[in-house]
Amino acid sequence: MKIAIFGFGTVGSGVYDVIKMNSDIIAKRAGKPIEIKYVLDLRDFPGNPVQEVLVHDVDTILNDPEVKIIAEVMGGINPAYDYTKRALSLGKSVCTSNKELVAAHGAELIELAKQHNCDYYFEASVGGGIPIIRSLCDCLVGDDILEIKGIVNGTTNYILTRMGEDGLDFNVALKEAQDNGYAERNPAADIEGTDAQRKAAILASLAAGAQVDCDDIPTEGIVNITAEDIACAKSLGAKIKLLASIRRDDEKVSAMVAPFLVFENCQLYHVNNVFNGILVTGNATGDVMFYGKGAGKLPTAGAVAGDIIEAAKYYGLPSDIIWSREKAHMSEQGSGVQRFYVRVSDKTAMEARKALGVTAESASSKAGEVAFLTEAMSENDFLSKIKNLEVLSKIRVYD
Ligand code: HSE
Repeated sequence: MKIAIFGFGTVGSGVYDVIKMNSDIIAKRAGKPIEIKYVLDLRDFPGNPVQEVLVHDVDTILNDPEVKIIAEVMGGINPAYDYTKRALSLGKSVCTSNKELVAAHGAELIELAKQHNCDYYFEASVGGGIPIIRSLCDCLVGDDILEIKGIVNGTTNYILTRMGEDGLDFNVALKEAQDNGYAERNPAADIEGTDAQRKAAILASLAAGAQVDCDDIPTEGIVNITAEDIACAKSLGAKIKLLASIRRDDEKVSAMVAPFLVFENCQLYHVNNVFNGILVTGNATGDVMFYGKGAGKLPTAGAVAGDIIEAAKYYGLPSDIIWSREKAHMSEQGSGVQRFYVRVSDKTAMEARKALGVTAESASSKAGEVAFLTEAMSENDFLSKIKNLEVLSKIRVYD
């Protein structure tokens, strides 16, 4: 089975390495040897053996009938969208880690693959090496998925862990995440929550079987989280985690991405560094927790390699992923009920406590400031109560 890899960056070179490193077991599991016939990249890599199979022109690959499977690990919408459509239209299966493309056009590409008797697989698009997509589409397919809560961005979890456990400065921790190959090419997508938003859109679409767009998902990143918040959260017995939160009620879907305070009694509290954790609640199976490395060259490449083997094994017998292009019905935003963490200056504290009805104890990490937790209330209610207050920081609590 001849394959091609589109993109020789962090993930692409990882796919190349995994296919070479595990060639014997991959051949056994796929039922046939898998050979990398081409790697597509605009750059040259002098001295690297990849040079022997490197091409700069996509048509060489698309016009070669021997190539049956493509690993699209270029990232971004363009030109990946066009290349993927052309490949699928020619009956070539495509396996991808490209969450931006999957979130925006997954339903259409799955449909196109079906029409041309091939597959569009995207295991590596969420949770890096965690087998979450196939679990939702196959193993948990008998369940109605009620809720998905997860840490789905390795870079931000790494940054929050290094700031919280080791007292590192935000930018130093981000640089480490970049050096380890966790961050996106433009790390704004990580720290502003866009990467997690794309993953949330994919998970929500699969849970609903219908399209949830990124625009349907209110998103906050971790850029406003300070060392003071992390220290106050710690005094209150919590850690701050960037969560993707998806809920289904009465055929409606609500989804958001935001930092939350998470307490020790929740499994997600213990998910640190580059690890991701995804807690899925099905109406039959109950809670299922997925845990593993959410970013990095080999974990992500391992997930792509798994898809390649699946596509090779069932070539000509494509699978059926239920994700319609129809829009999912979304719940009204701001109706979610939860507790909130609030940090204010000493001079605002009394007024804030009164407005929010807070009697609970407070924590402080800096002279002149105080932080406390409210009772549970709806987001809209909370926002109206703090409307006239000077709040330094507000973070949702995950109970
Ligand atoms: N930048 C992403 C992350 C890579 O940190 O999770 C994996 O999708």
